[in-house]
Amino acid sequence: MQPSNTTPVSQGREYPAGGLAFPHRDLTGIGQLARHEILYLLDEAEQWFALNRQSQKRAGLLSGLTIINAFFENSTRTLLSFEIAGKRLGADVVNMHAATSSVKKGETLIDTAITLNAMRADAIVIRHASSGAVRLIAGKVDCPVLNAGDGQHEHPTQGLLDALSIRHALHLPPGSDLNGLNVTICGDILHSRVARSNILSLTALGANVRVCAPPALMPAEIEAMGVSVFHDFDAALKGANVVMMLRLQQERMQGQFIPSPREYRHLYGLTLDRLARAEPDALVMHPGPMNRGIEIDSQVADHPARSLITHQVECGVAIRMACLDVLTRRTRGVPGWAALTGEAA
Ligand code: CP
Repeated sequence: MQPSNTTPVSQGREYPAGGLAFPHRDLTGIGQLARHEILYLLDEAEQWFALNRQSQKRAGLLSGLTIINAFFENSTRTLLSFEIAGKRLGADVVNMHAATSSVKKGETLIDTAITLNAMRADAIVIRHASSGAVRLIAGKVDCPVLNAGDGQHEHPTQGLLDALSIRHALHLPPGSDLNGLNVTICGDILHSRVARSNILSLTALGANVRVCAPPALMPAEIEAMGVSVFHDFDAALKGANVVMMLRLQQERMQGQFIPSPREYRHLYGLTLDRLARAEPDALVMHPGPMNRGIEIDSQVADHPARSLITHQVECGVAIRMACLDVLTRRTRGVPGWAALTGEAA
């Protein structure tokens, strides 16, 4: 499928080679990345996507390195895919779950970070309920820090894997952007770090992003991010090439944001009937976890031709392998970094 009524996507690599293509120690958000850096990470992920489809999935690139996944919030997809990504690249991967750690005894986030640093981790992957927690930790440790979702701020690897999933579904080759694609993101935009990272990545890649939510779940002045704002889901679907659904994040809500789940489903749930208002071959996405029967019906979520949801999960492993590879290149002495940073090789 090509986006309709749009300019063609841009194709071809437009970034410098090697380490020069990604001059950051940490990945705290899509907001820190230039367009060519986003494209670079997507293109780097393609080799890992291909490897992951082989029976032998092991590469020894990160052999001898230690990666710590420190998750202060629950996760299925992100935690497991970072763990699988690190292991497939040959690293030793250790998971720290806050629920069974000394955080429960009152240890502060900074003391936890200093402790992980003292164990000489080569990369730390962090999920935390507080926006900005990942950047705070990045300032306290000596190794690369990767944001696996911080509060309402960002979930950068989700933004990257979603862009890769769209590119695959449209059969776009490496180097391609998403110029002119109409993407509708519907749901709890206010509390969603996934929405924020996707808005940043999709607009950087040239897509036209529409956000749709009840007024109470729409951040003030979100237009400044370069999106169109809708409260009527049917209107937001007209002409959409991609429909990305988000769940209601009850755990971040204090007070009543919607009259009832039933009312919400009536106005903002994606049913097959409603999907028919989008472009005929529109793709459906959801970062998970889904609340079936509320923001999305099973007939849509499990649609064999239209749903990208399991492909998103598959792309998640490849993207996280790319991020772990690229961010540990300085540690591994991969050529390119010394010239970039002025450090001795
Ligand atoms: N999409 C996502 O972040 O899912 P998890 O919370 O299961 O990691």
